[in-house]
Formats: sequence, C-alpha cells, structure tokens
Amino acid sequence: MITPISVLRGLTAVLALLSTNAVAHPQPRQSAQAGNNNELVQPVYRALDLGSVKPQGWLREQLEKSATGLAGNLFYFYRYVKDSKWLGGNSEYSDLHESVPYWFNGLVPLTFGLDDLGLKDQVKSFLDHIIENQQSDGWLGPETTPQTRGLWGRCYIMLGLMFGVDWRTFFVEGTFPEVVYTPRNQAYPWLFTHGVNLAEAIRFPLAIYRTSHDEALKTQTRTAVDLIAKFHTSVAGTIIGDEAITDLNPSKGAELCTSTELMFSLAWVYQYLADNDIADWAELTAFNAFPGKIWPDWWSHQYVQQENQPWARNLTEHPQMWDNVGSYGNVFGLEPNYPCCTVNHPQGYPKFLANSFVGTDDGGIAHVFLSPGKSVYRFGQQ
Ligand SMILES: *[C@@H]1O[C@H](CO)[C@@H](O)[C@H](O)[C@H]1NC(C)=O
Repeated sequence: MITPISVLRGLTAVLALLSTNAVAHPQPRQSAQAGNNNELVQPVYRALDLGSVKPQGWLREQLEKSATGLAGNLFYFYRYVKDSKWLGGNSEYSDLHESVPYWFNGLVPLTFGLDDLGLKDQVKSFLDHIIENQQSDGWLGPETTPQTRGLWGRCYIMLGLMFGVDWRTFFVEGTFPEVVYTPRNQAYPWLFTHGVNLAEAIRFPLAIYRTSHDEALKTQTRTAVDLIAKFHTSVAGTIIGDEAITDLNPSKGAELCTSTELMFSLAWVYQYLADNDIADWAELTAFNAFPGKIWPDWWSHQYVQQENQPWARNLTEHPQMWDNVGSYGNVFGLEPNYPCCTVNHPQGYPKFLANSFVGTDDGGIAHVFLSPGKSVYRFGQQ
C-alpha cells in the first residue's frame, strides 16, 4: 500500500536535488541478499543517484533536443499538462489523471541528466503547486472522493509501481498467451494483453520479490522476459501489439509507449538479475525501436510503427488494419492518436542514461549500456 508519507519521501528526494544541486549521496553497500526479512532485497547492480550519469555524444544531442522539443515544452502549451486537473485546469484524457504523472516521470530524469536550469524551474513549480494543494488527509492530486482516487497516477509521481492485477498468475508457461492473433483470441482481460501494460508488468514479480524475498519471483521475472522475447517481440526490440499483443505479426507495429516502458523495465530488471542478454535487449530497444518513432527534432512522434511500414500517412483505405489504433496512428505529430505517448515518451532516454552506469558489489562502477556518457558519481562523501 502506498501511503502519502512514502509519496512525500519521494518528493523530498527530488526537492533535495532541486535545492542542493548535489549529485552524489553514496550509500553503504549492501549485498544482493538482504540479511533480515524486513529489508528490501538489494539489486546486484545498484542504480546510481539521479544526475550522476551525464550524457555525451549522440545521446546528449538527443536529450537536448528532447529538452527543447516536446518534453521540455509540454508544460507551457499542451492541454493535458498545462491545463490538467493536477494544475488547476480541466483537461484530462482519462479518469486515471495520468498525463501529468507521466510527464513528470520523464521530466525529472531529463532535468537532472542534463542539469538544465529551465527544466528545474518546471519541476520545482509543479512540485510547489502539488504540495501547496495537498489535501487535508494527505492525498496528492486533484481527486477528492474515494471513488475518483486511484493509485496509478500517484505511482508515476513517486516513480513507483502500480499494483493492480496480479501478474504472477500470468507469467507462467502454459498460461501465458503464446499465440493470440491468428485468429485473434484474447482469452485474457485487456490489461494483461495490452503491450504497454505488459512492458510495465515485467517489473511486477520482482517488485514483490524485493519485500517477500521469495526467490521463485526472481525466477518468474526471468520467465516473463523469456516468454515475451520468444512470442511477442519485434526484431527492433519492442513488444508487438496494436494495442493488444499480436504475436510476431510485423504489420501490427507497436506503440511508442511500449518501447519507452520496455527500456525502463529491462534496465531495472537487469540490475537484479544481472543477465547480460537483458542489457543487450535494452540497448536494442534504445537504438532501434524507440528512436525510430521520434522525429529528429523531438517535436513529434508516431503512435505506432511497424518495422515493415512503407509510409507514414492516414491509412483510411485500410480501416480494419488495426484493432485499437486510429488510421492516423502511423503519422508523426503532437498527438497522432492517443495522447499517452505524447506525455510518456520523454522518460525513455533520460532513464536509459541514468541506468547506463551502475554500482557494483566490489564498490566499483560498471558501464552497462554501451551509449556515450560518463559517471560523475563520487564515492565516500555523505
Ligand atoms: C484521416 O482520415 C479520416 C477518414 O477520411 C478522417 O476522418 C480524419 O480526419 C483523417 N485524420 C487526419 C488527422 O487528417
């Protein structure tokens, strides 16, 4: 259960970064096996403090373009951020009120990856606003009644994890849907077969493993990665689905959000499992599936992209082409289809950057994603 207190702890960490501009807060090294059951299981490779990995080369260029493109400007003009209920407006594309949480989840690592003062102003003014408007019972966000209060948006605010359906029943060989498409047979509820949710759900068993210490959940995480890789992954490294998974069918394509979430899930899972093929997969997604859907100036994106896509245009002559994607979903734009990818794609590269270096058990630093960058993490200072 996520309490307002734990949300505030997350906020405090970001506020500390905003006020001190500090880059390094090394913590005592802990082993991968926690000694006592009240402790969280620690990863094999530890994530470094946000802001302690700096981009170089092409990755810096891409992040800077993202900062001067959509990611860095949605706060100033985009209805689902600027005029969202979180900021006192009335524009929400769903009752989940997720657009601002998605935006914030990407803006924070972009801000500290680049150390961008203009972006810091956005982060700070947003945080000031939600803290000033915190409700008397501690709730963060615009919802006032139990019926309208969901955890989902809060989770993105605290860069956390959603507990909804139980994915432990799903990532099981024999149960996991290996072939769903020809003909389409979605025996599972929508949430299980939606590509973006599936990409996020890879983190589910591992998140419970951290508190339960149940090794079977770690094994299940590996099973989940393998099942998705074998039955639902494109050659460019994303999960194929339009929006529900469609096996290995290359003409269905995949959402930008799917590759965005997949990169982050693989980065996080890799830190616990330490299997190098998972890091390779994160790189494959980061160098292929993800950037292919973003225009070079970072002001527009596709909603879905297929690897064998011959053109980007309004596919009105093929109305049956997709299950839950509009005919305009292939076209580059601000909001070519559902707006989630507009607000969610900015987290992709900043989180890839932040996880490209990790702390190792012997007190060292490892460069695990082969992208240009450097670690400015400092040891031995509190
Ligand atoms: C795409 O084509 C459909 C059908 O002609 C039309 O209704 C829709 O407005 C078009 N979309 C855009 C963004 O032009």
